[in-house]
Amino acid sequence: MDWNESSRRSFIKQLGAAGALALSASNSEALRLPGTPGAGAQTPSSPSADRQAATRAQRMAWWHQARFGMFIHWGLYSVIGQHEWALEVEGVPLAQYEQLARHFNPRPNAAREWARLAKRAGQKYMVMTTKHHEGFCHFDTKLTDYCAPKQGPGRDLVREFVDAARAEGLRVGFYYSLMDWHHPDGARCKTDEAARKRFVAYTHGLIRELMTNYGKIDVLWYDVDWPLTPQEWESERMNQMVFELQPDIIVNNRNGLEGDFSTPEQEIKASEGGRAWETCMTLNDSWGFNRGDDNWKSPKTIASNLAICGSGGGNYLLNIGPKPDGSIPEETVTTLEAVGKWLDTNGKAIYGAERGSFSWNTNANYTRRGNTLYIHQQYWPGHTPAADWLAYYQPEVVIAIGGLKPKVKSARLLKTGESVTFTQDEFSLRLTGLPLQAPDQPATVIEVECDGEPVIDHDSIRPLWLRHKPGIS
Ligand code: GLC
Repeated sequence: MDWNESSRRSFIKQLGAAGALALSASNSEALRLPGTPGAGAQTPSSPSADRQAATRAQRMAWWHQARFGMFIHWGLYSVIGQHEWALEVEGVPLAQYEQLARHFNPRPNAAREWARLAKRAGQKYMVMTTKHHEGFCHFDTKLTDYCAPKQGPGRDLVREFVDAARAEGLRVGFYYSLMDWHHPDGARCKTDEAARKRFVAYTHGLIRELMTNYGKIDVLWYDVDWPLTPQEWESERMNQMVFELQPDIIVNNRNGLEGDFSTPEQEIKASEGGRAWETCMTLNDSWGFNRGDDNWKSPKTIASNLAICGSGGGNYLLNIGPKPDGSIPEETVTTLEAVGKWLDTNGKAIYGAERGSFSWNTNANYTRRGNTLYIHQQYWPGHTPAADWLAYYQPEVVIAIGGLKPKVKSARLLKTGESVTFTQDEFSLRLTGLPLQAPDQPATVIEVECDGEPVIDHDSIRPLWLRHKPGIS
């Protein structure tokens, strides 16, 4: 059973109906060191892609350490409060939708609240929608008056975001939707070459402004490249411009090129071939503010998803959908604070986690850094009546891991620092003498030092059991 199968099971177990579920088959053996040269992904196809590949490990080092980021979806759609696709899904006439621009009037520096929350949540970077599919620009631009400084807000909301993130020491990311439902050439560019040229010039121009006017930007997060192909978007030239203006930036793969990392959406799916990946996910079922969406994920689900991403050497970009005034829904705040509190003591098990080779577990997730294994026990065993008859489950509380390969040197609870006694043989590691109640929530992490890379393969012990005879021995 490889990482993906195991994670898929626990993902299904934890998310239930909340997310799409697909974990690709991939070769965990090939993925020991995310971010190292050569483990970076694409087959270089042009001189600029070659240059990106050569600098990838160095540009992405911080990102692999970070593992947890905040995504922010905020726009005119937040005023309606029915998901960011309202314009298209509800077929709103554009002339009416546009009027929202005058009625979008967020309070000053709302982004400070987001950045402070991200910091408390243990997130290391923030990615904000600078322009979503609706076409409204949150930033100052010479190319359209459909932008925050010239409409209701009367100021540059991207500037406020950048300043807020930097004030908290967080890395700055810009989301940018290539698809544009508002620009006159946004659809006809597919069939009208003059329109395509104008629209590509507009798109490259907006990106140039974003890459020029806000200092150092850490991530450029393209989205939906409908309706053009990468050739038609002139995506190579787009990336080349971006890297000329921001040599240290990392870019995703949604302008039709491979970029620096893959972007599984609403699913945890490790990339193949050592390529970097980041799962983006909503906290309820909507990216933009959706008044009626109460399908919130719990802190337990979030901590578990973070661990599953970490065990595959990937990042978790978790979304918030602020209200039109910029304030954050209460459920979002409570959940992120709970996760942040947990990370205060358990961050070692997440930040910088490297891809591991682990069998599935019904009660725990695993992460690793080097030769250290972290057992994220979600469901604490407590007392089992089996302990009355089986020495295996004595003394009272035992956590056992079948098929752990290397030899264990020590174990301790991350929450309290207390060491945990253990026994180990070729079948299993038995952690014994644990408290009756779970020491931590939403998961208790046990740090296990091994004398080699912690590989867990419980399939491998199946043939080893001493089987006595058919029937009871
Ligand atoms: C999809 C949606 C979009 C959202 C994005 C986040 O592409 O169209 O609304 O911004 O996913 O990954």
